[in-house]
Amino acid sequence: MTDITHNDFNKNFLWGVATAAAQIEGAHNVDGRGISIWDSFAKRQGKIQNGHTPYHACCFYYRYKDDLLLAKALGFTVFRFSISWSRIFPEGKGKANKEGVAFYHRLIDECLKLELIPFVTLYHWDLPYALEKEGGWTSVFFIQWFKHYVNFCAKEYGDKVKHWIVLNEPMGFTSLGYMLGKHAPGKTGLTNFLPAVYNATLAQAEGGNIIRSLIQKAYIGTSFSCSEIIPHTPNQKDIDAANRIDVLLNRLFIEPALGLGLPEDDFPLMEKIHFHSKSWRNKTKFQFDFDFIGIQNYFPLTIRHNSLIPYVSASEVKAKARKVPHTAMGWEINPDSFYNVIKRFSAYDPAKDILITENGACFKDILSHGVVEDAARISYYQQYLTAMHLAIKEGIPVKGYFAWTLLDNFEWAEGYNARFGLIHVDFVTQLRTIKKSGYWWRDFLTHKI
Ligand code: BGC
Repeated sequence: MTDITHNDFNKNFLWGVATAAAQIEGAHNVDGRGISIWDSFAKRQGKIQNGHTPYHACCFYYRYKDDLLLAKALGFTVFRFSISWSRIFPEGKGKANKEGVAFYHRLIDECLKLELIPFVTLYHWDLPYALEKEGGWTSVFFIQWFKHYVNFCAKEYGDKVKHWIVLNEPMGFTSLGYMLGKHAPGKTGLTNFLPAVYNATLAQAEGGNIIRSLIQKAYIGTSFSCSEIIPHTPNQKDIDAANRIDVLLNRLFIEPALGLGLPEDDFPLMEKIHFHSKSWRNKTKFQFDFDFIGIQNYFPLTIRHNSLIPYVSASEVKAKARKVPHTAMGWEINPDSFYNVIKRFSAYDPAKDILITENGACFKDILSHGVVEDAARISYYQQYLTAMHLAIKEGIPVKGYFAWTLLDNFEWAEGYNARFGLIHVDFVTQLRTIKKSGYWWRDFLTHKI
C-alpha cells in the first residue's frame, strides 16, 4: 500500500484543525466573561483528574494570533473554534458583553486575514453557569435562551462567518453531563437526561433554522459522535446489546434531525424517551435541512450483554482487555471502523455532505530536547486518512476533514493529562512545540508527501 498524499484528494477538499473554547481559551474571568459549567464543575473535588481546572488552559484568548499562525504554518486552510456562550452573555441571556463579542470579531478577522476559513461551533459543552442554576439543558426555558444566543451570534458574525456547526456531539454532553455525572454539570439520572436529550434535539433544528434565516449563503451542519458498534460474540444476546447501544450512540440525535423521528427500537430506555414528551411525535419539529452532517469518530466499541447495567443491559469490552491496538485513552485504533462509519452515515436519506469534524488520537507524548517524537499519532492519521480516502473513491461525498486538535489542551475530565495536539503545550510556561505529527501534517498539506 502506498502512503496517502494530498494529491489523492480533490482541490476543494476542506482541511481543517478543530478546537473548542473551554479547552483552549483560558481567561475565564477576564473582560466581563461569566463562568461556565466547566469552571464551576472544576471546583468539585475528584471530578477532574489531578484537580486541574480550565481557568487558564492554553491562554488562547491572549495568544490566538500566534496560534492561528501555527495552524496556518501547518498548512491548514480551515480553523474550527467554538464561541463561549458565557463570554458573550455572562448571565446566559440578557445583555451582551461587549468585550466578549469583540474578542470573536478579532479572532474571525485574524482568520480571514490569514485566509483560514472560520468554522464556528455554537455550542461545545460550556453552558453559562448562570443558566445551569436555572436548570440548564433540562429547563423548559432552555430553547428560548438558546435561540436568543444563536440569533445574536448569527446577526453579529454572519457577514464574516458562513460555516456553522450548531452543536458539538449532543450524545456526549447529555450522557456524560446529565446522565452519568462524569462531565459538567455533573447531573445524573433519567430525570435530567430525558429533558436534556429533548432540548438538545430541538436545539439542533432551531439553531439551523435561525442561521438559515439570518445568514445568506450559510453552510450549516451539526456534529455527532459516531462509533461502529461491534457485538463481542455472534451470540444473539450480544448482538441485541450492541443494537441497543447503537440506537443510543449513533441514531438518537441524527434521525430526528433528518426528519426520521426517534428510533423506534423497543427497549426500556427508548420507551422512557418516547414517553417523556408527546412532542416527539411531531417529527418536523426536530428536523432541519442541514447542508452537511458532521461526523466525529475516534474508535469503535465492542459491546456485550450485561444484565447488571440498567436500561441497556450492555457494557463495553475494552480494547486493552481484547489486546488490540489502542491510544493512551484506551480507545481502539481501527481505521476500518472509521470507513464503516462514513459509509453508514452517508447512506441516510436525505443524503447530505459529510464532513469529518473531528478525528485524532491521544498518546503519552514526551518532550525531549525540544522534540516530540509521536510516530504513533502520524501512523494513526495515515491510516484514518487512507480509510476516508477509500470511502471517497467509492463516491461518498466527504467534503472535509478536521484533525483534533491544534494544541494539547484541557481534555475535560482528564484535565491536561491527555494530549491530543499536533502542537505540544507546556502548561506552566505556555511554550508551544510542534510535534513530529504537526510537521507530518505540514508536509502532507503542502504537498511534500
Ligand atoms: C470532543 C472534544 C474532545 C475529543 C477527545 C470529542 O468528543 O468534541 O472536545 O476533546 O472528543 O476526547
